[in-house]
Amino acid sequence: MVVPRPDIRFQLLDGTQATAHADELQALHAEVYANPPYTRADDAALFVDRFRVQRRQPGFVLAEAHHGDYMVGYAAGMPLRPSTSWWRDLTTQLPGEVTAEHPGRTFALVDLLVRASWRRQGIAATLHDLILSNRPEERATLIVLPAATAAQKAFQKWGWRKVTRTGDPRHGSPVFDVLVITLPAIREH
Ligand SMILES: CC(C)(COP(=O)(O)OP(=O)(O)OC[C@H]1O[C@@H](n2cnc3c(N)ncnc32)[C@H](O)[C@@H]1OP(=O)(O)O)[C@@H](O)C(=O)NCCC(=O)NCCS
Repeated sequence: MVVPRPDIRFQLLDGTQATAHADELQALHAEVYANPPYTRADDAALFVDRFRVQRRQPGFVLAEAHHGDYMVGYAAGMPLRPSTSWWRDLTTQLPGEVTAEHPGRTFALVDLLVRASWRRQGIAATLHDLILSNRPEERATLIVLPAATAAQKAFQKWGWRKVTRTGDPRHGSPVFDVLVITLPAIREH
């Protein structure tokens, strides 16, 4: 386990508690996604809409890292629903037993961001451990751009494995790697 920096406060929030933090999350998200490997400044309205939907989903959870009152990073996720479209636009099909969902099967890690000037200090590792520890699901999944080198290295270090890709560039969606990890994700950093 990473030893968290003593001057960084980490906390877990549910969807109701997260509501009050939407502005801070949006600002951090916009800052990170305005920089490579991401090619466009984040559309604030898109983030707000997505966050509004996600925080209402059953089991939504947010892990935050603050230095004083300043949010330096966060992670967010929720269990996949049996009707999820998560496994729908895959570039390589996976066996049905991999993509079949049932309650308690899969937790989706939908965001993990740390402000650039706060990186390489174990903040993402601590957020990752906090949000995934004690999950009741069998596994977790996430999508990440192939060009997101720092994230790719981090997830590889933490034991995630690539199972396929998803997205359809013909319809304006970038192609993402789909990563999976068996839970509990007990690791040595
Ligand atoms: C990915 C990200 C969250 C990592 O945040 P972080 O707080 O710097 O990560 P950590 O300090 O916990 O690093 C954990 C490990 O990841 C690897 N890693 C992280 N950044 C790396 C980099 N730039 N190059 C190589 N390896 C890197 C290292 O193995 C590191 O462990 P080490 O520092 O002991 O060697 C951060 O770079 C980020 O916000 N990137 C942009 C957003 C993004 O791509 N998020 C993922 C989308 S799913």
